[in-house]
Amino acid sequence: MSSRREFIRLLSASALAAQFSRLAEAGEPALVPGKPGMIVRSHRFLDLETPPELLNSWITPVERFFVRNHMFEPTTVEASTWKLTVGGEVEHPLELRYDDLRKYPAATVVNTLECAGNGRAFFEPHVPGVQWQKGAVGTARYRGIRLKDVLARAGVKSSGQHVMFRGLDEVPGKVPPFIRSIPVEKALQGDTLLATHMNGRVLLKHHGFPLRALAPGWIGAASCKWLAEIRVLAQPFEGNFMNPGYHMPNHLVKPGESVDPKDSASVTQLSVKSMITRPLDGASVRRGPVEVSGAAWAGERQVTKVEISIDGGARWQEARLGEEHAPYAWRLWTFAFCPNRSGEHVIMSRATDSAGRAQPARAAWNPSGYLYNAIDQVKVHVAA
Ligand code: MTE
Repeated sequence: MSSRREFIRLLSASALAAQFSRLAEAGEPALVPGKPGMIVRSHRFLDLETPPELLNSWITPVERFFVRNHMFEPTTVEASTWKLTVGGEVEHPLELRYDDLRKYPAATVVNTLECAGNGRAFFEPHVPGVQWQKGAVGTARYRGIRLKDVLARAGVKSSGQHVMFRGLDEVPGKVPPFIRSIPVEKALQGDTLLATHMNGRVLLKHHGFPLRALAPGWIGAASCKWLAEIRVLAQPFEGNFMNPGYHMPNHLVKPGESVDPKDSASVTQLSVKSMITRPLDGASVRRGPVEVSGAAWAGERQVTKVEISIDGGARWQEARLGEEHAPYAWRLWTFAFCPNRSGEHVIMSRATDSAGRAQPARAAWNPSGYLYNAIDQVKVHVAA
C-alpha cells in the first residue's frame, strides 16, 4: 500500500475510533453502517460482536453477523476487475474472473461460523487478544461453488497436500499478511466452498466480497475472505497466522509453562458448545414458567442433546431441540424453567455431540485463548 493511502486509511480509522469512543462514553451503542446494535471490539481493524440476545434465530441475519478482521478491509474491490489465481502444485494454473464463477455448479451450505477466539474473555488467568465474549459466532446460508471443482479443473498434483488462501486485506506496516492453508482432504470435501453469497445476498465487503473460502465446521480463520490467490502446496503454509497464530498445545499447559512447538498443532475443527441467549445474564424474571433458549453447535459433528441444570450441575434435564438442522449448523433449543422460589438462580447449559463429547465445566486454558467451550451459564433474579 502506498504511504499516502496508508496515511489516509489511518486518519479515517482514527477518526472513526474517536467517534466510537465518544459514543461509548455517552453510553450509546456504536453505529457501523449496516450493522446496528453490534458490540465494537476493535475499531482499527473492524471487529464486531453480536450481543447474545440477537442470536435467537437459526439463520443469523447479515446485519447481526459478527465481523472479524485482522487488518484493514480492502478499500475497493470490484467484481469487474477482480481476479483469482490458482497455482502451485497443479497441472494447469488458472485465472478466474467473477463471471467465470458461473461456469461451475452452484452449491449451498448452512454453516455455523465461530471465531477460534470466541469466549477468550472468560479464560482465567486472562489471555491477550480480542476480548470476545459469547457473540463471535453466527449461522449463515453460504452459496457459491465447490473448491473441489476448481481444484479438479486445475488438476492437483500428487505432491499437493495443502491448499493456501491469500486475501486482499490491506496490510499496514509490519503486520504479516493473513495467509493460511488447510489440508487438501478438507479442501476436497464437497462442502468446502468458494462463497459469493450469504443468506441469499451478495457478500458484504465485511464478509469477504467478492469471494471467500468456507471450510464448514472449522474455526472461522480457515475461511479466508476477499480471496485473490489459491495455491496448492506440498507442506502447510508457514506464516504468522499458521504458527504461532491459530496453533495450540496438544495437551493441557499451565499458564506460564513453555509450549514445545513439536507438541502443538493447528486449530482446525470447532468444539461442542452451547450458549444461552435468553434470559440474559443479570435479568430479572417473574415467578412462573420462564422460557430459556439458546443455540448449540459441534463443528463437523452433530449436537445430540442439550441439558439444563438449575442446581449448580447436580441434576440435568434435557432441553427441546429446534426442528431446523443441517450438518454444520447450530441447533436452537428451548427449556421451560419453573422456579420454585424467588431470588437468585443460575441456569447452566451443556451440549453433547455425536462423538459423545460433552462441554466441560472448565475450558482447557491455552496461551492464546482458543476454543473456549465451558458449560454456559446465566444468573437471573426471580421476583418474589
Ligand atoms: N480472511 C481474511 N482475508 N482476513 C481476515 O482477517 N479473518 C478470519 C476469517 N477470514 C480474516 C479472514 C477470521 S479469524 C474469522 S473468525 C472469519 O474470517 C470471520 O468471518 P466474518 O467476518 O465473515 O464473520
